Amino acid sequence: MAATVSDILLDWYDRHARDLPWRAPPGTPPPDPYRVWLSEVMLQQTTVAAVKPYFEAFTRRWPDVAALAAAPEDDVMAAWAGLGYYSRARNLVKCARAVAARGGFPTTETELRELPGLGAYTAAAVAAIAFAQRAVVVDANVERVVARLFAIDTPIPAARKPIRVAADAITPARRAGDFAQAMMDLGSSVCTAREPKCLLCPLAKTCKARATGDPARLPVKAPK
Ligand code: ADE
Ligand code: SF4
Repeated sequence: MAATVSDILLDWYDRHARDLPWRAPPGTPPPDPYRVWLSEVMLQQTTVAAVKPYFEAFTRRWPDVAALAAAPEDDVMAAWAGLGYYSRARNLVKCARAVAARGGFPTTETELRELPGLGAYTAAAVAAIAFAQRAVVVDANVERVVARLFAIDTPIPAARKPIRVAADAITPARRAGDFAQAMMDLGSSVCTAREPKCLLCPLAKTCKARATGDPARLPVKAPK
C-alpha cells in the first residue's frame, strides 16, 4: 500500500519533533489542555524562541486554569509584558475564567470555539493536540507547506479556502495533533519561506511545487 502524506510526515515527526515545553513526545499521552491552550495563544503572533520563557514563567506561577482564572487581570497583563498583542492577554483571562466556571476545558472543537476569546485556530489546535480529535489546524506555516505540496497558486487570501480543503484532505483520523505539529515543524525548519530545503524534505517526492520548480514563490500574496 502506498504511504500517504500523513504516514510519511508522522514517521518524520517521530524522528525529528522539536522538544518543546508544552509538547508530549510523539507516541506518549497528550499534554494537559491548559498547557496546549496557553502555548497556542502565546504562539499565535510570537516565535517559539520568544514564547518559551513566558510559557515557563506562566505555568510556574499559574500551574492550572483555575489558578490563572483566580489571578487579577493586572497581574496577568504585567506578566504578559513583552509578548505584545495585549488583547491576547485580556482574552486569556476571560477564557480561563469561563473554563474554570464550567469545571474544565470542553473536549470538542465546536465547544472550544464557544469559549470567550478562543478563536477558530486555537479551538482546532487544542481539540487535536490535547484531546486527540480530528481537527484541521492551519497556521501560517501549514498554509505555506500545503500551498506548495499542491502547487496552489491562487493568491492569499483567496487561496485560504482551497488550502483548507487540501489540508483537510491530508489530515489523518488518528494523530491529528501530531500531524498538525509535524506540519508546523516542517514549515519552520525545512519548508521555510525563502529557501525551502527540499533535499531534506520527507515529502519531496509528492510535492507539486518542487516538481514544477521554484517552490519559494508559493504561497502567492495578493498585491497590496
Ligand atoms: N506554532 C504554533 N503552535 C505550535 C506548536 N504546537 N508547535 C510548534 N510551533 C507552533
Ligand atoms: Fe516544501 Fe520543498 Fe518539501 Fe515541497 S519538497 S514541501 S517545497 S520543502
